[in-house]
Amino acid sequence: MSYTIALNFEDGVTRFIGCKAGETVLDAAYRQRVNLPMDCSDGVCGTCKGHCEQGDFDLGDEYLEEALSDEEAAEGQVLTCQMVPSSDCVIQVPVASSLCKTQVGKITGTLAVVEPLSEDSIELAIDLDDDAELAFLPGQYIHIDVPGSEAHRSYSFSSKPGERRATFLIRNIPNGLMSGYLTERAKAGDRLSLTGPLGSFYLREITRPVLMLAGGTGLAPFLSMLEQLAQKHAEGQGGAQSGCAQPIHLIYGVNKDDHLVKTDALDAFAERLPGFSYSTVVVDEASEHPRKGYVTHHMDAEVMHDGDIDVYLCGPPPMIDAVLKHFDKEGIVPQSFHYEKFTPNQAPGEAA
Ligand SMILES: Cc1cc2nc3c(=O)[nH]c(=O)nc-3n(C[C@H](O)[C@H](O)[C@H](O)COP(=O)(O)OP(=O)(O)OC[C@H]3O[C@@H](n4cnc5c(N)ncnc54)[C@H](O)[C@@H]3O)c2cc1C
Ligand code: FES
Repeated sequence: MSYTIALNFEDGVTRFIGCKAGETVLDAAYRQRVNLPMDCSDGVCGTCKGHCEQGDFDLGDEYLEEALSDEEAAEGQVLTCQMVPSSDCVIQVPVASSLCKTQVGKITGTLAVVEPLSEDSIELAIDLDDDAELAFLPGQYIHIDVPGSEAHRSYSFSSKPGERRATFLIRNIPNGLMSGYLTERAKAGDRLSLTGPLGSFYLREITRPVLMLAGGTGLAPFLSMLEQLAQKHAEGQGGAQSGCAQPIHLIYGVNKDDHLVKTDALDAFAERLPGFSYSTVVVDEASEHPRKGYVTHHMDAEVMHDGDIDVYLCGPPPMIDAVLKHFDKEGIVPQSFHYEKFTPNQAPGEAA
């Protein structure tokens, strides 16, 4: 028996390690050449402290209160030199990956599909070379080098972890560097280089209702999260992470009617995942869509649960800023709030 432990470093890098039954996280990390911070390795100094965001484990009872207080333990803080996982876990490590002599992974793959989904978005599928490097948390992103340049761009996975074919939803930006490659030169068989996974925008354990807010291609990470939840549900893994114990509502906003993509997949999730529902919103005033305007206009009381919700928000910067402003103005303080801003690599107006 072995568990997968995601170590999330302060610089956004995530490393996945295997942890054998009965093994401490610290020992498993060193065995795999990840030098987590440590001093005593005996539960005395507290140097190895991290925060376990997800998963089950035994914290042991051999450590000192000075190293980890009861309050810290109740908040999910752990000593990696003492902690023995009994399921897959996600642990925040409060130092940069370079200090642990580990770094972000390099992956190569072959372009399998590049297909316009609308005038505004493109689906990219890459067959990755090495299955062993495919671990990521649903919601995370990766850097893809733009062929023929020294630059890279960041993209959130729309596929779920563990697939050999990784997929992405990419906005077609006029005169954009990656957009230009994808619309003019890309073809099946092109070799691509990727670096990652990265980011702290990933699905946490579901313990209360979830509100997902997506703008345009900001739908991508939610497709990954929903696919993983649907798979867990199909495999009969009951409990919160199966997606059935709590309601999950997605509000998906776009500028124009024909920018709505992947609604067939969302319909399928509504069938496959008990408790999942979604609504779409279109900005265009000329649209005949039943819900017009911005996602903030359509956050009805039934999806807000009086603020007892976890909110996940992803999309272009103006959309993120508008939602943050709306929450601030309306005094909405969800139990937890996670967002990913699709910030351009280049300042607006800069030549690609
Ligand atoms: C963490 C992260 C995850 C991301 N995930 C995704 C994703 O899953 N899907 C996705 O489509 N994008 C995503 N992005 C954005 C993506 O990395 C690129 O910025 C985007 O695809 C544009 O790249 P480009 O090379 O085509 O254009 P660039 O050459 O970078 O830009 C050309 C010009 O267009 C401007 N521009 C770029 N983006 C926008 C915009 N949204 N609105 C208006 N002007 C813009 C630039 O400022 C520049 O002037 C993500 C960004 C981050 C930081
Ligand atoms: S390394 Fe000292 S408490 Fe873990």
